[in-house]
Amino acid sequence: MLPFLLLLPLLFLLSALFLSQCLRRLNSVRKQPPGPLAWPVIGNLHLLGTLPHRSLHSLAKRYGPIMSLRLGQVPAVVVSSPEAAELFLKTHDVVFASRPKSQSAEILSYGSKGMIFSEYGPYWRNMRKLCTSHLLSASKVDMFLPLRREELRRLVKSIEKSAEAREAVDLTEEVGRLVEDIMYKMIFGSNNDGRCDVKGLVREALNLVGAFNIADFVPFLAPLDIQGLTRRLLKISKKIDEAIETVIREHEEALLVGQNREHKDFVYLLLSCMDTYNQQHNSVIDRTNTKAILQDIFAGASDTSATVIMWAFPELIRNPSVMEKLQLELENKVGTSKMVEEADLPRLTYLDMVIKETMRLHPVVPLLLPRVCREDITINGYCIKKNTRIIVNAWSIGRDPKIWSHNVELFCPERFLDSNIDYRGYDFQFLPFGSGRRGCPGLQLGLITVKLILAQLVHCFNWKLPEGMSPDELDMTETFGLVVPRANHLLALPSYRLSIN
Ligand code: HEM
Repeated sequence: MLPFLLLLPLLFLLSALFLSQCLRRLNSVRKQPPGPLAWPVIGNLHLLGTLPHRSLHSLAKRYGPIMSLRLGQVPAVVVSSPEAAELFLKTHDVVFASRPKSQSAEILSYGSKGMIFSEYGPYWRNMRKLCTSHLLSASKVDMFLPLRREELRRLVKSIEKSAEAREAVDLTEEVGRLVEDIMYKMIFGSNNDGRCDVKGLVREALNLVGAFNIADFVPFLAPLDIQGLTRRLLKISKKIDEAIETVIREHEEALLVGQNREHKDFVYLLLSCMDTYNQQHNSVIDRTNTKAILQDIFAGASDTSATVIMWAFPELIRNPSVMEKLQLELENKVGTSKMVEEADLPRLTYLDMVIKETMRLHPVVPLLLPRVCREDITINGYCIKKNTRIIVNAWSIGRDPKIWSHNVELFCPERFLDSNIDYRGYDFQFLPFGSGRRGCPGLQLGLITVKLILAQLVHCFNWKLPEGMSPDELDMTETFGLVVPRANHLLALPSYRLSIN
C-alpha cells in the first residue's frame, strides 16, 4: 500500500504533464495567424476601405506578415512580406495554386473555364501549356512585332500633329487605346468594325469583375442580387459570347476556303492547333473553352500594360532628372535620327530600371490574383484551413523597409542598379507578375509592349504639363479594381525632339 501511495504524486505529475502537452499540441494545430476580431456576417469587410491594398498594409503592420481576416463568411490569410510570400508561392505553391470561385468568373468564363480563374488541375494545366507554347511563346511574341511597330507609329504620327498644333494629348486615353488595339488585333484579328464590339464589351465586363461583389463573400445574400451585378453579368456574358462566336465563325469560314490571313491571330492559331493538341495531350479543349481562353487573354493583356505605362509617365514628369537620364540613354543607344525598335530594348538598361521602379511603387495588380488553399496546412506554426482565400499584398512587399532601405516612397530607379532582381517572381521582394505556377504567362509580351511604347514616346517627344500646372501638383490617386490605375487622366503637351520626320 505504501509504495502505491508514494507513486500517486508521481502519477499525478505525469498525467498533468501529458495533458499540458496534448493541450499545447492541439493549440498549435489550431493556431490561426493573428488578425483583427471579425464581426458577425460582415467579418472584417469594413476594414478594407476603398483601396484595400493600403488598408491591408496598415493592418499587417499591426498583426504581422501572415494575418488572418474574415471577408464576410470567407476565411482569408493576407501575406505581406517577402519571406512569407516565398512560403506561399514557392515552398507550398502547389497547395495554393488554385483560384477561389467567384460569381463573375463563373458567369463570364463559362463556369471558370478561362485561364485566369480556372481551378488548379489537369484542365488548367493543359490549357496553360497550350497557351504558353502556341500563343505566348517568345517566337509568337516576335511574330507580332510588325503589328506593334505599325500601331505605335500611327500614334506617334498623331502626337506629332498635336505637337505642331501645340495641343495637349490625353496620354491615358491614347496609350489605353493603342494597347487595346494591338492586343485586339493580335488576338482576334482585324479591328472590329462595329458589328461586334468585343473590346467595349470586355472592358465593361472587366469593370464588373473588378467590382466588389457581396455574393462572393456572403453567399446567402447571392439570390437577392442586391447590387444588381448578377443581372448585369448575365446580360454582358451573353453579348460577349455572341461577339466572340461571330469572330470564331468568320475565322472558321476563312480556314475552310483556305484563305490566307494577313495576320495569323490567336483565334486562327488556336483553331489550327486544337485538334492535334487535344489528341497529343489527351485533353478536351472545346469551343466553349476556346471562347473562355480568348476572353481571358484579352482581359489579362489590355489594361495591365497600359496601366504600367500610365504610372511610369507621371513619375517621369515628376522626376525630371530621371526623364533626362532616360532620354540621354535613348539618344546614346538608339540615336536621334531613328525611332526605337524592339531590337534596341535589351540594351536600354536605364529604361529597365525605370520600369522596375514603376512596378515596385505601383504594382498594377497590387494584391495579385487571389489564390485558395487546396488542403489544410500548417505554415510557420499557423494552421491554414482548406478553402481559405490567400491574398498576397505585392504593394506592401514593394514597400518593405527591411528590403527597400532608403525612403521606400521615393521614385528612384537607381535602386535597381547592379541588382539581379528579376520580374519573374524568383525574388520575393518584387512580384509585379506574381510568382509560381499561377504567375503571369503574358510577362514577356507585357514587358515588350510596356518598354517599347514608353521608350518611343519619351524618345520622340519632350513632355510638359499644360499651362499653370507644376509636376508636384500631379495627382497620383489610385482607383481600385482588378487592375489599379491612376484615378485621373494624364494630359501633357508634346514637342517633337528627333531629327527625322
Ligand atoms: C505588364 C503587364 C502585365 C502585368 C503587370 C500582369 C500581371 C499579372 C499578375 C500579377 C497576375 C497574377 C499572378 C499570380 O496570381 O501569381 C497575372 C496573371 C495572368 N496574366 Fe498577366 N500581367 C500582364 C500582362 C499580361 C498579358 C499581356 C497577358 C496575356 C497575353 C496576361 C495574361 C495573364 C493570365 C492569363 C493570367 C492568369 C494566369 C493563371 O492563373 O494561370 N497578362 N498577370
